[in-house]
Order: sequence, then structure tokens, then C-alpha cells
Amino acid sequence: MSTEQKFKRITTKALELLKKKGIKITALTAYDFITAKLLDQAGIDVLLVGDSLGMVFQGNETTLPVTMDEMIYHTKAVTKAVNRAMVVVDMPFMSYQLIADEGFRNAGRIMKETNASAVKLEGGERIADTIKKITAAGIPVMGHIGLTPQSIHQFGSYRERGRDKAEADEVLKDAKIIEEAGAFSIVLEKIPAALAKQITEALTIPTIGIGAGVHCDGQILVTPDMLGLNVDFHPRFVRYYAQLADESNKAFTDYINDVKTLKFPSEDESY
Ligand code: KIV
Repeated sequence: MSTEQKFKRITTKALELLKKKGIKITALTAYDFITAKLLDQAGIDVLLVGDSLGMVFQGNETTLPVTMDEMIYHTKAVTKAVNRAMVVVDMPFMSYQLIADEGFRNAGRIMKETNASAVKLEGGERIADTIKKITAAGIPVMGHIGLTPQSIHQFGSYRERGRDKAEADEVLKDAKIIEEAGAFSIVLEKIPAALAKQITEALTIPTIGIGAGVHCDGQILVTPDMLGLNVDFHPRFVRYYAQLADESNKAFTDYINDVKTLKFPSEDESY
């Protein structure tokens, strides 16, 4: 039996072991029951209820409007579908940035109400105290550095981070601080592959990359992106594993035509 098959449930310890053994960690986002069920059955290691749902599910321009109640609503649907994967929940914008105690209370609320296994917070040094507080209460925290979408108005664009030396040093420093604060894993978003490699080698906790090259301990993508559903979004780091927008479009137009021309429903499909 392989190391991966041995795990009945993916835990923080399992991810640690996968890194030690050099076995890549797989992660994708899920916001609903059916997608979560399909992903869990396919054998995904980590399911992130990402606040990207604010863009791909709710149609907002950024992730900033997403609320605690909305994250909890989606996570409850996801956890009901999952037997094996680790479910990680994004803490939404302004649920943890103000003071550490508020972040702690909100992380506790997510864990209490959703049956998820961990929370994810964006940021480096400035949220280290919050991570310490949350992990001290026994709640696993995944960090997220590099391009952190909740700070989009400060960055001014979605360009990659860590391109020049000063920025790269800052990202590396943040990674070490987040590990020291107690995070069990860290997402590296849109940073050069060489910097992601340096961070992955410097940390004992697993790194999960998105637009951060092949050397990370694992990879994550936004599921509607990799399924080819998010047709207006074409960043270089997304690989399309399906073209579901095209297939859906065909199914929808076929249905409309069949109804209009009385081809649906047939006698067999009637009572
Ligand atoms: O919100 C999200 O989906 C994320 C991933 C892009 C890592 O944070």
C-alpha cells in the first residue's frame, strides 16, 4: 500500500509526512457539495473553501466582499461531502486583520460551525500574533503569502510578487515567520519558481504553490479555472484540464432546442 493510500483521512501530520517522503500534495478549491464529493472521490488531498468564491461564485471583482457567514455556509456544504480530504477554510477579509483576538474568535467560529479541519489566513509578519493565538487553541492554520488577493488594493495589480531582491527577501522572511508562528502549511501564490524552491527547502512545513513553479511540495488551482469554466480568466499558471464552458454551452443550447421542438421530454421520460 502506498503512503497516500494508507491515509483514511488527510491530517496535518499526513501532509508533513508527504513532504518528508517527497510525495506531492494535491489541492483544489470547492464551494459546494457536488464538486467536493467528486474531488474527494478522485483522491484530492486538500479541499480549500477559498474566498475566491467571491469572484468565481458570486461574481465580485475581488475577494473583499466575502463575509464570515458566506464562508460558513459554503463550508458546511463541502464538509458534508468529504470523507478523506482535509478541508481548509479561507478566513475572509477583515475577519482577522484588525486584532488577534477577533481572528481567534472567528477561526473558532469556523471550526465550531463547519466541521472543517483548518483555516487559512493571508499575510506575513503582521498576522504572526494572530496565527500564534489560533494555533495555541489547537486550530491548524495554513498561511498564504506572495500575491495575497485580499491586499489587491495595496498591490495595485495581480502581477507576481518577489520579482526583485527586496520583495523576494520579504517573502522569504514572511515564510519563516509564518512557520515559526505555528502554521502547518503555506500557500505560495504567484512568485518566481526559484524563490518558491528556496522557501520550500528552507521550511519544514509543506508549501502549496499556485503560479509558483514545480518545486513546491504541492499544487493548488481554483477548480472552475482548471475545468475551463471561468472563460474570461487566462493567467499563465492555469492549465485547463477540461473545457466545461464549451460543453455546458452545448448542453444548454441542445436542451433549449429540444424543448422548443418538442423533442424533450419523450414518452419514456413521461409518466
Ligand atoms: O481563495 C482561493 O481560492 C485561494 C487559492 C487561490 C489559493 O486562496
